[in-house]
Amino acid sequence: MCGIIGYIGIKQATPLLLQGLRRLEYRGYDSAGIAVLGQHGISIERAVGRIDNLIDKIGGHTIEGTMGIAHTRWATHGGVTEFNAHPHRGCGEDIILVHNGIIENYRELRKEFSEKHTFVSQTDSEILAHLIESHYDGNLRHSVAQALQHVHGTYGLVVMHRDHPDTLICARMGSPLVIGMADGEYYVASDPTPLLTHTKDVTFLDDGEIAELTREGINIYTLRETRIHKDIQHIDWDDEQAQKQGYPHFMLKEIFDQPTVYKDALRGRIIEDEGTAYLGGLNLTPEEIRNVNRIVFVACGTAYHTGMIGKYIFERLMEIPCEVDVASEFRYRDCVLDEHTLVFVISQSGETADTLAAVREAKRKGAIVRGIVNVVGSTIARETEGGTYIHAGPELAVASTKAYTNMIAVLLLAALEFSRMKKMNVAAGQRMIHALYEIPEKMKKMLEQSEHIKTLAEKHKEYRDFLFLGRGVNYPVALEGSLKLKEISYIHSEGYPAGEMKHGVNALLDPAFPVFAIMTKNSLYEKMRSNIEEVRARGGKIILLATEGDEDARDFSEDIIFAPPTMELLEPLLNTLPLQLFAYHMAVALGRDVDRPRNLAKSVTVE
Ligand code: AGP
Repeated sequence: MCGIIGYIGIKQATPLLLQGLRRLEYRGYDSAGIAVLGQHGISIERAVGRIDNLIDKIGGHTIEGTMGIAHTRWATHGGVTEFNAHPHRGCGEDIILVHNGIIENYRELRKEFSEKHTFVSQTDSEILAHLIESHYDGNLRHSVAQALQHVHGTYGLVVMHRDHPDTLICARMGSPLVIGMADGEYYVASDPTPLLTHTKDVTFLDDGEIAELTREGINIYTLRETRIHKDIQHIDWDDEQAQKQGYPHFMLKEIFDQPTVYKDALRGRIIEDEGTAYLGGLNLTPEEIRNVNRIVFVACGTAYHTGMIGKYIFERLMEIPCEVDVASEFRYRDCVLDEHTLVFVISQSGETADTLAAVREAKRKGAIVRGIVNVVGSTIARETEGGTYIHAGPELAVASTKAYTNMIAVLLLAALEFSRMKKMNVAAGQRMIHALYEIPEKMKKMLEQSEHIKTLAEKHKEYRDFLFLGRGVNYPVALEGSLKLKEISYIHSEGYPAGEMKHGVNALLDPAFPVFAIMTKNSLYEKMRSNIEEVRARGGKIILLATEGDEDARDFSEDIIFAPPTMELLEPLLNTLPLQLFAYHMAVALGRDVDRPRNLAKSVTVE
């Protein structure tokens, strides 16, 4: 939510900052702005809308200077206007900053400052510039540290000052910041993606830390100004992965990435001879695993749907009670946890505010907390006492696709490992491994149907409501298909467990309410078939996902997609792909901004 990039070094900052903003645009796209300090002072440009608007505004003229900051905004406080766009300034226009997060006491502070300071925006962020200005004593780091003592809320903050052409100050509380180090140049950003072109050596700021970046190096302090040492981490993401590579949208590229990145999730984690998997990062001994008597999955959005799938997987393979909770509910519930409860927190970004709060709550209550995370070094990855990376690579479309798939892959591996310590025999483990190995080729078969799915999307693009139905492990798949459609095409849709239809939802059925039904051949096939019969009997229009070879399925609809057969618990790895493609092609057919749907941002770092 909001993207920040800062640079100090020897090159011209403007092109680097604009390139960085483009990589961060998925974090927010209401407005964008840049400030660069050069020999002739500070130049600032801001524009409402996309980065392209900012670039157009800058036009041919060069904003000269080798240090600068830039921001792409997802509005929280204050409308989408140029005045509210970052960077923000104090009254003297010496202090300039970009901010991600929410300053909760900004109203009180603003009131306190209103007599002596003039505010030009409606944002909570602007108060930070005035606050630092009021504490300024010639030492920029000290002034920022002092000012932040008065702030309640969250911030990822980068500050520069007209009189300090060699210093950028960054501070973090609740909103991520990562510092990248190259030769004689330093970067700071909200996440590592814009840094990949320049460096893979990074350090992540933790809450309550403040960093001073100069051309000579970086120094990191606590807010109380005690100097601390931080390790440098190497990010092994490939810059190529963060490019569109000829696809019209990141989302389509990321859908098509799935057979490849799925293999990355499995790589080095399977011990075929023993019919098991090994996820070293989970940091759990066999004894500890056997002592777990309950698993709770906590996540938001698409990651939450993978938690629901995790429940089916672990209950089946481990015969252990499982629960799933939306992080924003979990954090405020009186959830009962103890040292035998394993809490899996699942997050692509590793920065989602509610999920992070859930981590802290579960740790406070003594549960075993483990992360399933994509972004290496992210806050959730660091705050959990162990966990596993999903290795999906950078996911830049707001709609999550490949991260979802790799979350499920990792859940399957963990369940295999745990189950082999409890009840599963070696042959059953090997059968599951072979099924897991077959998935990439089967995914390719699903993706080959993209043109057919595009035709189905074109055919249905006039409908304003959709229903997605599934049962068992395909119920969360239905929810995910529905979320994808809403998220990027703005069409109302609902996901339902098909068995629930007759308890109310059947009343909605009519020819204007198409039903996307997942009726693949598994243990609930007959049940699902009866439910679809009922939909058909009431005039419902059906799009069907069926298993290859199920010729009877053609009786239900002419609009069919076929999936190769696989083990029931692995079906979400295949069945979700056509739903992702359907949402994608529908959004394209309706002329939506697929990668940057309205009102959303990729990384939800505010509550
Ligand atoms: C999915 O398409 C969404 N953009 C969203 O639901 C997302 O999955 C959710 O915000 C959780 O994000 P996280 O995985 O980064 O924690």
